[in-house]
Amino acid sequence: MATNRTFTMIKPDAVQENHIGGILHMMEEGGFRIVELQKLLLTPERAGQFYAVHAERPFYNDLVKYMSSGPIVAAVLEKDNAVADFRTLIGATNPAQAAEGTIRKKYAKSIEANAVHGSDSDENAQIEADFFFGSK
Ligand code: PPS
Repeated sequence: MATNRTFTMIKPDAVQENHIGGILHMMEEGGFRIVELQKLLLTPERAGQFYAVHAERPFYNDLVKYMSSGPIVAAVLEKDNAVADFRTLIGATNPAQAAEGTIRKKYAKSIEANAVHGSDSDENAQIEADFFFGSK
C-alpha cells in the first residue's frame, strides 16, 4: 500500500447510532477517497489481535469487548499525507480534547466510544489495512 493511504474504522457506537453516512461524508469532504470499505462484526479474538499492541494497557480488555460489541465499518482511505491529515480530521483520542470541526468532536461520546480509529503511522496503516483487506 502506498504511503498516501491510511486505515480507519467507524466504531460500534457510531454505527449503532446511524452515523456511518455522516462520518464517511466528513472523510470525503476532507479530501479522502474511499478505496476499500466493509461493514463487519469483529469477534473478541479478532479485536484482541488488532489491538494486541495495547495488550499491556489497563483499558485493553474493555477496548476489545467494546470493539466486538457491534458492527464496525473498516475502510482504506487515500489522500496525499493521508496518515497525518486523517489524524487531524478525526481529532484527539479523548473527545473532550477534540478540536472543533473534527469527526470526534461531532460524533464521539467518550474516550472508549470515540467514533473512529485512524492509523498512527504509514507502517501501521499498511498492517491494519492488510488485517482486514489482505495484501494488494
Ligand atoms: S492513540 O490514538 O493510539 O494515540 O491513542 P491511545 O491513547 O494510545 O489509545 C489507543 C487506543 O485505545 C483506546 N483507548 C481507550 N479505550 C478504552 N478506554 C480507555 N480509557 C482508552 N484510552 C484509549 C483509544 O480510543 C485508541 O483506540 P483507536 O482505535 O486506536 O483509536
